[in-house]
Amino acid sequence: MKSVLFVCLGNICRSPMAEVIFSHEIDRGNLNFTCDSAGTSAVHAGEKADLRMRDSAKQRGYDLESIRSRQFKQNDFEKFDYILVMDESNYRNIRDLSNRDEDLNKVFLITDYCTEEKASEVPDPYYGGENGFFEVIDILEDAIKGFISENK
Ligand code: 4NP
Repeated sequence: MKSVLFVCLGNICRSPMAEVIFSHEIDRGNLNFTCDSAGTSAVHAGEKADLRMRDSAKQRGYDLESIRSRQFKQNDFEKFDYILVMDESNYRNIRDLSNRDEDLNKVFLITDYCTEEKASEVPDPYYGGENGFFEVIDILEDAIKGFISENK
């Protein structure tokens, strides 16, 4: 069983969305993976996912209702085989928390697995309009399919 942790800033928009898309693919393909998500910031810890993200997800057939935000913690480096971050800023935050090469070797920018979407990061949708949330879903669906085909 391999484990994947999705990481963004607040753990209320992008990484919970990634967790649910990946869980959906695990169930659909009976894949030997587990997953979770976390934010580098604790500002939203304990909260549900952003209402706009939950609504957009629902329109695309995903359910984010049971997810609660949590902060990334040091032992996540030991617990997970892959740590997939949404943007360069997340990458820097995680790199600053890592103590060993072994930790950093697990960290990848999720958009590196895209095969169709031309995105160099998953843009932070928090301060933007509704379209940003659907864009997040489009990029994550593509990246997650790519990740699974490379690693299953
Ligand atoms: P996320 O989005 O990192 O995709 O969960 C954000 C959530 C909250 C904030 C920024 C981004 N914030 O500034 O509170």
